[in-house]
Amino acid sequence: MGKSYRIAVLPGDGTGPEVTAEAVKVLHAAAGKHGFSVETTEFDFGGERYLRTGEALPDSAAQDLRAFDALLLGAIGHPDVKPGILEKGILLRLRFELDQYINLRPVKLYPGVETPLKDKGPEDIDYVVVRENTGGLYTGIGGFTMKGTEHEVAVQSMVYNRKQVERCLRYAFDYTRKRNRKKTLALCGKTNVLTYVYDLWERAFHEIGEADYPDIAREYYHVDATCMWMVKNPEWFDVIVTGNMFGDIITDLGAITQGGMGIAAGGNINPEGVGMFEPIGGSAPKYTGKNVINPLAAICAAAMMLETLGETDAAKAIEASVMAVTPTMKSMGAGKMGFSTTEVGDKIAEGVAS
Ligand code: IPM
Ligand code: MN
Repeated sequence: MGKSYRIAVLPGDGTGPEVTAEAVKVLHAAAGKHGFSVETTEFDFGGERYLRTGEALPDSAAQDLRAFDALLLGAIGHPDVKPGILEKGILLRLRFELDQYINLRPVKLYPGVETPLKDKGPEDIDYVVVRENTGGLYTGIGGFTMKGTEHEVAVQSMVYNRKQVERCLRYAFDYTRKRNRKKTLALCGKTNVLTYVYDLWERAFHEIGEADYPDIAREYYHVDATCMWMVKNPEWFDVIVTGNMFGDIITDLGAITQGGMGIAAGGNINPEGVGMFEPIGGSAPKYTGKNVINPLAAICAAAMMLETLGETDAAKAIEASVMAVTPTMKSMGAGKMGFSTTEVGDKIAEGVAS
């Protein structure tokens, strides 16, 4: 008998519960086939709970979740809760408290999936963004002074220390080596304007690369140019590493080139701790309960979770099943797939089990 994994499922808001249910279905199919087992425990963190209790996350949450092997998150965001409260109170708080300092976001176009990039196909769009996930502008350091007056000042600081930068860069170098494709790591920064923060990143990038990763080629792009090349020549990229804010922005651009939020998955990873895997789209309230939302992003997130747990064969089998099903779908968009949410989940699970 293989290992048994304890997975905390945080279905969250809107369509989150629908997509996580399909991801869990696929996890069980993969477990059955690949000789391990999965035991899930649900947590009700999200907008409904917040409206009921006035608390986004109990103080014990991070500690409780540390007892699990991994976390699977649906979506956070509720139409009756002011933007920022749940995002900061649940998603960002868990990323910080669990020190999930890597946000891993593959940008991969699967067969039969439509991309807005002219003349580009699956052979051109296949790279991974390593986004630093606990620092930078997201630390929330800053404030107002003279608020409400014409002299009002607002400051929000991009903060990085060497250790944060270094651990993220080392993860990215290791990942590039393990991926074993073009063996090229591109740093995405803005050294022409953010002359402190990205100077630190750039120096660390070359120092670490030269000393410990001579087999990995290093490239540098400003963030604005990165966006341009992600559209014009996505085939140039293998692995891109960047800070938190730029990573947030460029991965939405990447997501749309791979077919949109229905398919894009992300992993919040603490290489020494517990990770949280999620579809990178939102809670899509208008589609809630209609069985029309695309569960593939959540399913791909579950595959990334298995990969991170070391169940590489199972992760590959899920991806292979996804690649067999995408050509049969009309679109990746909610309500336009040609199948229901549960049908897509069933098809992937059948593919994995067969
Ligand atoms: C993401 C999201 C979050 C982020 C929001 C919801 C706080 O956009 O995961 O990319 O900015 O990191
Ligand atoms: Mn984002």
